[in-house]
Amino acid sequence: MSLAALRTSFRTKAPFPAAVRTQAGASRGVLRNPAVFRRRFSTEPPPPEPKKSNAPLLAGLGLAAVSGVAFYVYTSQSDTAKEAGTAFKSGAQAAKVAANFVPAKADYQKPPTSMFAHAQPSLLPFNQVYNRIVEVIDSADDYDDGSYGPVLLRLAWHSSGTYDKVSGTGGSNYATMRFDPEAKHGANNGLNVARDLLEPLKKEFPWISYGDLWTLAGVASIQEMSGPKIPWRPGRIDGFAAQATPDGRLPDATQGADHLRNIFYRMGFNDQEIVALSGGHAVGRCHADRSGFDGPWTFSPITLTNDFFKLLFDETWVWKKWSGPKQLEDKKTRSLMMLPTDYVLIQDKSFKKFARQYADDQDLFFKDFAAAVSRLFELGVPTSQFVSSDPWIMKSSDEE
Ligand code: HEM
Repeated sequence: MSLAALRTSFRTKAPFPAAVRTQAGASRGVLRNPAVFRRRFSTEPPPPEPKKSNAPLLAGLGLAAVSGVAFYVYTSQSDTAKEAGTAFKSGAQAAKVAANFVPAKADYQKPPTSMFAHAQPSLLPFNQVYNRIVEVIDSADDYDDGSYGPVLLRLAWHSSGTYDKVSGTGGSNYATMRFDPEAKHGANNGLNVARDLLEPLKKEFPWISYGDLWTLAGVASIQEMSGPKIPWRPGRIDGFAAQATPDGRLPDATQGADHLRNIFYRMGFNDQEIVALSGGHAVGRCHADRSGFDGPWTFSPITLTNDFFKLLFDETWVWKKWSGPKQLEDKKTRSLMMLPTDYVLIQDKSFKKFARQYADDQDLFFKDFAAAVSRLFELGVPTSQFVSSDPWIMKSSDEE
């Protein structure tokens, strides 16, 4: 059995069997009743609902998968075989969880209440993952600028930005930042804050993988900070420490244009996407005790705008005189900062062209940012793992 076939059969059959969906949905009948809740985002129509339990069939399928994977893994020492073994183990855990509960889009986000006009209130799903993430984002109070959005976005990006297109390693699939030494890589300083914030949600929704949870938190952060909709779909699986990536895959802010290109070309991005992605620095701030750098990039660090690009062009940037690492500050207020890698976006001719366009046109920036971020968050995830061929658009909380 080929790896692709194995993955496909395992993921589409084992974790999302119709029988299990029906049984699990019994107590959540409103959600599972196709007449009330339609799975509009699935590639194929759902298989016909069986009349009896499919447990024996599932057990048989599981056994077949076990034999196939075991044979494949034990007869090969290649990386692909190891990956198959990991996928199988994680998939088996997911299947166990799925025996009682099978997630659909409605489990990631509360569907509009209009769909439930005639439903019993006690059956309405009010605690879906996206909605709970929004509560976490908003629970910041005195933290930084009053939102956990920026640090959650940075977690999603750092868990994805380790991807290497040549070896196919890294990316958001296995959420390897949970493990040392990746958790302790200098670039990831401070991201324990974001991981710890999401840990209770992992306990609340044990069926979601860390990679899905972290990237969905990134999506929610952007959307809740007034940014564009980020197409997203679930399917990442939890991996093992052995899949953690070596240090040095994330960008070093003290470097220049060549370094940025080396890092982002390795992920498969081009100059335009490098500039668009860098616009993420419209939100958040640097922390002296995390990266050594200090201060926010914009005057509205919890609202996503194109101000990062506007300020790059409109302000005069001078090197900050201090004992910390080389960074720039705006001459007028000295309250904003730019990293050397940000400043290079208006020094390098090719980068500057795109930065100018984004400074002049926020809609264009939002469109390109959304496309690049959506791709970034899927780096390293085999297409066959996704539950849907079309990414979903989650509603932001002000649309619900
Ligand atoms: C282009 C290369 C990049 C470099 C060199 C870089 C570097 C940095 C550094 C040094 C910090 C400060 C961390 C701290 O002290 O807390 C930071 C924060 C941040 N970065 Fe980047 N970054 C890059 C790209 C990106 C991308 C692509 C995104 C998202 C699309 C992003 C989103 C953020 C956010 C939201 C923060 C603020 C985190 C917070 O407020 O806690 N960065 N980045």
